[in-house]
Amino acid sequence: MYILGLESSCDETSAAVVEMSEQGRFIRSNIVASQIDVHRLYGGVVPEIASRAHIEAISKITYEALEEAGITLSDVGAIGVTAFPGLIGALLVGVNFAKSLAYANNIPLVAVNHVHGHVSAALLSDPTLEAPFLALVVSGGHTSIYKVNSYTDYEEIGSTRDDAVGESFDKVGRVIGLPYPGGAALDKLAYEGDPKAIQLPSPAIVGDNLDFSFSGLKTAALNYINQAEQKKEELNRADLAASYTRAVTRAIGKKISAALDETGMKTLVMAGGVAANSHLRSAIGEICTSKKVKFVCPPLNLCGDNAAMIAAAAYYEFLRGNFADTSLNASATE
Ligand code: KG4
Ligand code: ZN
Repeated sequence: MYILGLESSCDETSAAVVEMSEQGRFIRSNIVASQIDVHRLYGGVVPEIASRAHIEAISKITYEALEEAGITLSDVGAIGVTAFPGLIGALLVGVNFAKSLAYANNIPLVAVNHVHGHVSAALLSDPTLEAPFLALVVSGGHTSIYKVNSYTDYEEIGSTRDDAVGESFDKVGRVIGLPYPGGAALDKLAYEGDPKAIQLPSPAIVGDNLDFSFSGLKTAALNYINQAEQKKEELNRADLAASYTRAVTRAIGKKISAALDETGMKTLVMAGGVAANSHLRSAIGEICTSKKVKFVCPPLNLCGDNAAMIAAAAYYEFLRGNFADTSLNASATE
């Protein structure tokens, strides 16, 4: 069956067609219209501008996605749309567009949780992946660990108590002059620095829990930058990038190790924009190898926001009969 996915929760408008059945999970098209160049001028996402850009792009890319998949709306078995969490004005564009399309063409509508969408990217990249498994979602808006009992049953067992990891990467990147979003540039810069050069606090919360706090680490990095400026010392940006990355990677590694031991899960999925981080991919990959745990991390094009992952999540909600109707509203929170 063909599912049309629609995503507009932040700064990418995306439309995709996936073909899902007992026989396999296939991406037939996955168009992403990124707004990053517009938001870069402001150093971060401007919600009002994001909503307007979604409105301009959504109709066009939806028809592009159908065309690339070689189908028309009459072939679509269900429409899956990100309804929460995200920027409310941005989400409303996708939700209203999806509602109209579903109503006018008599197609079942499914509301998708964006975070479940990120995890579902792994279902597309690894056709052999089966629940239950452990999932780590690391993105600009989320840092959470889930026990995924089935494709529609997520149990959060750990999360950040303040900033998301991607948000903290972006903030530090901005202060050291990297273009928005700083995560990918910081990833590269970290290779040129000494990861042990600067002592930074761990974002792993101490104790018997699986939680994180990135605000203390971010503030320590910003203080370090300010102090260097006050002392008129030249800041070694590569050392900072490497040390910051080390602190993040070690903390996530520590909590993931504990989560794997506690749950006894034999598969780990890592998803979300920050799952593109090469240092994190290799560190978490090594932990999984040492624990004989299967590690599934989607390719880079499925880590960032895209609608194929939303369509994949929608398929399993569809199978459970979780339909939405024209009363569907968006929500900024989960
Ligand atoms: O999943 P995503 O596209 O949007 C949200 O749902 O938040 O994630 C975007 C985040 C940004 O913070 C961006 O800096 C980060 O993913 N990111 C990275 C890398 N590539 C993207 N962070 C670290 N290393 C990367 N290579
Ligand atoms: Zn996302």
